[in-house]
Amino acid sequence: MKWAIIGTWRMCLEGIIAAAEILKHGGDSGDAVEEAVRTVEDYPLYKSVGYGGLPNENCEVEMDAAFMDGDTLSIGAVGGIRDFKNPVSIARRLSRERFNIFLVGSGAEEYAHKNGFERKNMLTERAKKIWEKRVREISDKNLSPYDGHDTVGVVCLDGQGHMTAATSTSGLFMKKRGRVGDSPICGSGLYVDSKIGGAAATGLGEDIMKGCLSYEAVRLMENGMNPQEAAKKAVCNFSEKLKQKRGKAGAMSLVCLNNKGEWGVGTNVEFSFVNGQEKSGRRKQNGI
Ligand code: GLY
Repeated sequence: MKWAIIGTWRMCLEGIIAAAEILKHGGDSGDAVEEAVRTVEDYPLYKSVGYGGLPNENCEVEMDAAFMDGDTLSIGAVGGIRDFKNPVSIARRLSRERFNIFLVGSGAEEYAHKNGFERKNMLTERAKKIWEKRVREISDKNLSPYDGHDTVGVVCLDGQGHMTAATSTSGLFMKKRGRVGDSPICGSGLYVDSKIGGAAATGLGEDIMKGCLSYEAVRLMENGMNPQEAAKKAVCNFSEKLKQKRGKAGAMSLVCLNNKGEWGVGTNVEFSFVNGQEKSGRRKQNGI
């Protein structure tokens, strides 16, 4: 079986390259997807994920992340966790628990500490300056405080047919303390079943979770659609539904991969993604 991987936004290019190294040497998709997301979490200039992520209205970086295993449907997730270096790794560890698989805030931090995960102040000077500037703009110009919600979401198939998905984000810039978006929510931010395929979402969590978009894309693949048809239909149909019911729809994008390694994307905005796959014994990477 050929391996394949797809992730949201240009920011995951280096992570997908690192994951591809694991996959081309016969590695496991859980390790590859975790590596892809950790690479993004560690990069200080990405403003919506991990270290360097933009803070909430109290100038605290609160992060959400999830990991799902498509063989067992095991899922682990953290919401609103602060001061830990790699939330996706904590989520993966939680996915191995039988109970208490989705922890938030201080409970998630306590779990991470007890299980030896690395602590780190995730607020960079650069992120703090952007926050200070936005606070001034909000008071001077009466601007809407909310901005930016780009999640890294990755779906992966390894050479043994094992599929996984993972997400990580610092969520909406200037969010309320305790706000959790779609990214750690099973079926909304991500979903994967090795017998079918997987999907991961990015965009406005408040809208994505109204449509359980990732599950919807996987359901459409199960009913016979290829990943491109499924991603497009899931996003476009739900975006239209929201416009009809509520007059507007937030930004929503999906990456999809099936268990044959075929991939697709759907979006209602401009969106970039990165895909890597084995082709004729050689690795191929596309970025759009
Ligand atoms: N999609 C990420 C968020 O809304 O938090």
